[in-house]
Amino acid sequence: MVGVGGGIAAYKACHLVRNFTEHGDNVRVVPTESALRFVGAATFEALSGNPVSTTVFDAVDEVRHVQVGQQADAVVIAPATADLIARLAAGRADDLLTATVLVATCPVIVAPAMHTEMWLNPATQANVATLRSRGIVVLEPAHGRLTGKDTGPGRLLEPEQIAQFARAAMAGANFTHDWQGRKVVVSAGGTQEAIDPVRFIGNRSSGRQGFALAEMAAQRGAQVTVVAGAVDALPTPAGAQIVRVSSTRELQEAMEAEAGDADVIIMAAAVADYRPANVAQSKLKKGAADTDLSVLHLVENPDILRGLTQRRAEGALAAATVIVGFAAETGDESHSALAHAQVKFARKGVDLLMANDVSGGQVFGKEDNAGWILSAHGTPQEVPSGSKLLVAAHILSAIDREIAQRRADKTD
Ligand code: C5P
Repeated sequence: MVGVGGGIAAYKACHLVRNFTEHGDNVRVVPTESALRFVGAATFEALSGNPVSTTVFDAVDEVRHVQVGQQADAVVIAPATADLIARLAAGRADDLLTATVLVATCPVIVAPAMHTEMWLNPATQANVATLRSRGIVVLEPAHGRLTGKDTGPGRLLEPEQIAQFARAAMAGANFTHDWQGRKVVVSAGGTQEAIDPVRFIGNRSSGRQGFALAEMAAQRGAQVTVVAGAVDALPTPAGAQIVRVSSTRELQEAMEAEAGDADVIIMAAAVADYRPANVAQSKLKKGAADTDLSVLHLVENPDILRGLTQRRAEGALAAATVIVGFAAETGDESHSALAHAQVKFARKGVDLLMANDVSGGQVFGKEDNAGWILSAHGTPQEVPSGSKLLVAAHILSAIDREIAQRRADKTD
């Protein structure tokens, strides 16, 4: 079910409904009265293929206020205004939408949209905290241009992002807002090593998994910085600061600058192991007498991840920092992808390693991911195939377990 509050962003609910129907979901749209002042019922009826009502007094014989909530697999409210959030927090049931939420036992996902002052107002924040304490997922709004000229937190997330968060919540992702006060640094995308002003050595990383990690960590309340190399045209991770880099050495510099006060460092970037020994200042010309383009001299890049774990071992980074690496592996005649990852886990000195089998074009640029999470505690945990957001939620849960294990070790 998609609930729609009465805000200017109500038009974005049309794209959200579309996203769900295209995904094969049967969508029931329940707007508030004021939502219909922004978008007409006919639009929602046409997009969902289902009748639209705002009141419990329509189709009373069907007991619709109970029926809609009981039948839904998820209730997604977008946009949720300050007023609607207040009514939900108070447990009101004065229209079909709020009555439905009171009945629903399925996941309820709320995507707020309002002016920054209204969002930051203690009344709204207290209402949001109340809803979260009841297990309702209240998504952090995006920072950005609001309806007027102002910018700040309060902008509705993009419909695609809301749909992905809703699917992750339905699949059991943990949205508990308990990473507040934690700083998380995530690297994402691929590095590019210049050959000359127009050519570079790059790789197929899309940045999706790193961005998904940043988004999930921000939704759990963390302060998040993403250090992004080359990434596909993806929306900026909601709630995260972004630092753009190109080469491995730039990525290293940015990671080291951010690592000092980080609680969690995740190296999801695909880093080039080598770079050209010399970068030509002007475009290399085919057939030029003084250049042989068939030979490229390379030098090894620093291993950023190994460098970070070493700095921690030397005391330059806090011992409590959790460091997570990635390993894209393919199996061969002698070893499986997992066996290769186990060797890498030991070599990198990380606390957790997310290993994927990338043989046969799996993973890179794809929407889904799967693999294993390796840790020093116990056998590798299999991560079933799911969206990169859901895989991100698994990785954050593994970090929760790692922190809990350290606390338990300390008190032993
Ligand atoms: O050794 P390999 O490239 O397979 O290791 C992958 C992990 O190491 C990833 O987390 C990647 O971000 C990181 N890495 C790095 N610096 C490099 C190469 C990889 O930090 N030069």
